[in-house]
Amino acid sequence: MKTYSLKVVNIKLETPDTVTLCFKQPGLRKIKYSPGQYLTLIFRINGRRYLRPYSFSSAPSVDATLDVTIKRVHHGIISNHIHDQVKIGDVVEVLEPMGDFGSNVISQEELFLWGVGSGITPLISIAKELLFHNSNIKIHLIYGNRDVDQTIFLQLIQSLETNYGDRFNVIYFYTKLAVKPNLPYWVQGRISRESILEIMRNRQISGVSHLICGPFGLKESLVSTLLELGFSKEEIFSEDFELIKDPMDFVDINTQHVHVQFGEQKVVLEVIKGQTILESALDAGIDLPYSCQTGSCNTCKAKVLQGTVKIIGIEKERSDLEDNETLLCCSHPTSEDVIIKI
Ligand SMILES: Cc1cc2nc3c(=O)[nH]c(=O)nc-3n(C[C@H](O)[C@H](O)[C@H](O)COP(=O)(O)OP(=O)(O)OC[C@H]3O[C@@H](n4cnc5c(N)ncnc54)[C@H](O)[C@@H]3O)c2cc1C
Ligand code: FES
Repeated sequence: MKTYSLKVVNIKLETPDTVTLCFKQPGLRKIKYSPGQYLTLIFRINGRRYLRPYSFSSAPSVDATLDVTIKRVHHGIISNHIHDQVKIGDVVEVLEPMGDFGSNVISQEELFLWGVGSGITPLISIAKELLFHNSNIKIHLIYGNRDVDQTIFLQLIQSLETNYGDRFNVIYFYTKLAVKPNLPYWVQGRISRESILEIMRNRQISGVSHLICGPFGLKESLVSTLLELGFSKEEIFSEDFELIKDPMDFVDINTQHVHVQFGEQKVVLEVIKGQTILESALDAGIDLPYSCQTGSCNTCKAKVLQGTVKIIGIEKERSDLEDNETLLCCSHPTSEDVIIKI
């Protein structure tokens, strides 16, 4: 997999706990990407290598720099490292862009972007690119936040509303009401089933796509309500920032030993109940390949030579995996003496 070294040329404070890192495009070998894709940032901290995916918040036709926008996560290793340690002038290693979120909607007439918090990042990239390029598409952004001060890209979104008023319509949802007169349209509360029905009342169904990026609860209520309204599954796309773990999925999982064959290395890992095989390997200092950690990129694909494993936490069906293949970022051993080959 290709890697690049990118120089940080600007850091923007978007909200008190969100920053945008702006990277200079390499002089040679410019990085090509599509809106909705993500960049995997690589950091080495205390001798351990960490990779984390961040969706582009820049749009390829609009922005000169490659931008990713990072929200601090409580106790999160890399989000806090970026906020506290990364400076203008630093060079960060990244993997080539990955992901296909939003790639199917270019020819649609109308697009609904549903996002909450940092879920805005791929949506703003897609909105900028389509508004700039596609003079026919109409875009609706439905954007939930705790309050106005936590609204990432508020000024940018307002300027897009001013510049593309007839084609770009925004509805802001705030769980903690804070009255600011400069907001054209805001709603108190969460994006609920009732509000989805209200927003979609008397809307056309054909030629319309929906892109969702936010917590599992938002996605669940959006998908079920949109299906009920007559939209087909093929018109609803979502991007997950984390695995969805239900404690009930772990009832048949126990701490087990897993044999890992990685190139010349052969190691036996103790995989503690709740940990994935990937997490156990990384904790043991084995630099297995990975990127998204949400079961969508395939970078961590491995063969199960013996024993059984269970994939937990991914929403998308993975019919492309062979019977003896698994994704280590979401795999848990379900039998003794599992043997994995990467
Ligand atoms: C495709 C994709 C795109 C993404 N795009 C974005 C984006 O645009 N912007 C963005 O901000 N994020 C994005 N993410 C999420 C991002 O990749 C990271 O997962 C996120 O920044 C957290 O990483 P971290 O290293 O800070 O947290 P980690 O250290 O990985 O921690 C993960 C979780 O474990 C918890 N945790 C960790 N350590 C402890 C501890 N000691 N005690 C208690 N709890 C703990 C944290 O609270 C957190 O919930 C994206 C993810 C994916 C899959
Ligand atoms: S790291 Fe992307 S599928 Fe596992």
